[in-house]
Amino acid sequence: MKPETFQLREMMLSDYEAVLGLMRRTPGVSVRDADSEAAIARFLERNPNLSFVAEQDERLVGCLMAGHDGRRGALYHLAVAADCRRRGIASALVARCLAALEGLGIHKTHVDVFRNNADGNAFWAAAGWTRRDDVHRFSMICGGGSNA
Ligand SMILES: CC(C)(COP(=O)(O)OP(=O)(O)OC[C@H]1O[C@@H](n2cnc3c(N)ncnc32)[C@H](O)[C@@H]1OP(=O)(O)O)[C@@H](O)C(=O)NCCC(=O)NCCS
Repeated sequence: MKPETFQLREMMLSDYEAVLGLMRRTPGVSVRDADSEAAIARFLERNPNLSFVAEQDERLVGCLMAGHDGRRGALYHLAVAADCRRRGIASALVARCLAALEGLGIHKTHVDVFRNNADGNAFWAAAGWTRRDDVHRFSMICGGGSNA
């Protein structure tokens, strides 16, 4: 597959099953209760025109979800099908999401990457993102289960 043979388009709720399938097949991407169809529907409704999928030959081969809180952007669930990697798909998805966020006046965006995700860490570093060693992320679960 050459870079020009895939297309990006906005992620729709109708992509849910294909996106979840890709995420489930992709080590390094965690699927939580917050990835239920209802929750993803809420996310897409709150963050329109910011999440994208990559398709080739009518097959969904990549995804990246983006949102913002009015100040900062956040990226979630970057995944590219194993047989389609190193062809620029993730780079194209990130560029599209950042452009969409920038269009809304969001100029700084964060992404969480598991420390043990070698591919993910290599990708973000190669893309020029700054790895933050000066912050810790603290999390709290209020209600819901341990997989919230
Ligand atoms: C990380 C991931 C999304 C990259 O997707 P991709 O489409 O292959 O990435 P790109 O082709 O745009 O790569 C751009 C550059 O990133 C770097 N890069 C990407 N994957 C890399 C890897 N596994 N090892 C080292 N460098 C890598 C390279 O510099 C690459 O350029 P090059 O191919 O010309 O050398 C993909 O490997 C993946 O889905 N991994 C599993 C899920 C994951 O880790 N997601 C990120 C969670 S935050």
